[in-house]
Amino acid sequence: MQKKDIYILAIESSCDDTSAAVMRNAFVLSNITASQKIHEQYGGVVPELAGRDHEKNIVPVVRAALKKAGIEATQLDAVAVTSGPGLMGSLLVGISFAKSLSLALQIPLISVNHMQAHILAHFLEDEKEKKEIPSFPFICLTVSGGHTQLVLVKGHFEFEVLGQTIDDAVGEAFDKAAKILGLPYPGGPFIDKYAKEGDRTRFSFANSRVPNLDFSFSGIKTSFLYFIRDHVKTDPHFVEKNLNDICASYQEHLTNSLLKTTAIALDEHMGCDLALAGGVSANGRLRERVLQLTESRKINAFIPPFEYCTDNAAMIGAGAYFKFLRNDFSSLTLLPDVKMHL
Ligand code: KG4
Ligand code: ZN
Repeated sequence: MQKKDIYILAIESSCDDTSAAVMRNAFVLSNITASQKIHEQYGGVVPELAGRDHEKNIVPVVRAALKKAGIEATQLDAVAVTSGPGLMGSLLVGISFAKSLSLALQIPLISVNHMQAHILAHFLEDEKEKKEIPSFPFICLTVSGGHTQLVLVKGHFEFEVLGQTIDDAVGEAFDKAAKILGLPYPGGPFIDKYAKEGDRTRFSFANSRVPNLDFSFSGIKTSFLYFIRDHVKTDPHFVEKNLNDICASYQEHLTNSLLKTTAIALDEHMGCDLALAGGVSANGRLRERVLQLTESRKINAFIPPFEYCTDNAAMIGAGAYFKFLRNDFSSLTLLPDVKMHL
């Protein structure tokens, strides 16, 4: 007997992107994201403004996702939403909306952990290509604006954190350096862009020593601040003249730090494939280095397509689909968990 298709509307609003996706099982029918521009002028996300913008965006984004998918709300089998980690006001908008829809349509509510969803994005299918999915166990390097983690993924909901940052996330290290260079927020993609034309061996920065499989990025960030300050003292045009080389060298430094620890994790878990997840996995040089590392070790690399790297609702849909299959539903008393663990 053919299995019945499951249609899920997934909503992501944990930070500054309002996103809605419609899934048919693990297949993405639509994935629509409204990125908030308002934070650019402040050089970082302003929580109150983020919440307000989610309120404005959520209805049009959900409508657009349903329309693109060609699905009526009444055809949905469940509604899923990110319940943490994230900003309280931002999470509340998505959760309140999802609860109302669940109640109005009398369909189950599914709560999804944002960090698990970044990893589960590897199990998404879409019309673009038929791709391989990772087999368990595999190692996932999750790199975003809020997290830097090495995770041993043993099952769809079985995770062991092998190591993580003891201070800043690598995305923050990209964004803060970009701010020092006068680049717009979020600066990671700009560093990536300017680095493409630069010499990555030209400048060097201090290394942080952290034991085990943990990471540290706050020292690197401070070293970058002093480096720019000292050079600008002697040449006020230092940044304009050397922007490409500065970006390439700094990006290489961050990538080295990520890859060194990842290589140790792979040594400790021989035979495991390597996956990348989170916004920073859109970085061109990081993707290239991960491919080099996995080729040299004769293991597979799983690198998400760009649209599933940064925050998006399709990844929430992936988590929701696997929860639906387990009948793992939430009650309407669901609350945001801003510090939710993996
Ligand atoms: O996963 P994400 O969209 O949001 C969080 O959950 O944090 O990640 C956002 C982070 C930001 O720090 C942004 O600068 C970074 O991902 N990012 C990049 C690139 N694209 C996004 N960093 C470096 N290179 C990129 N191409
Ligand atoms: Zn994220």
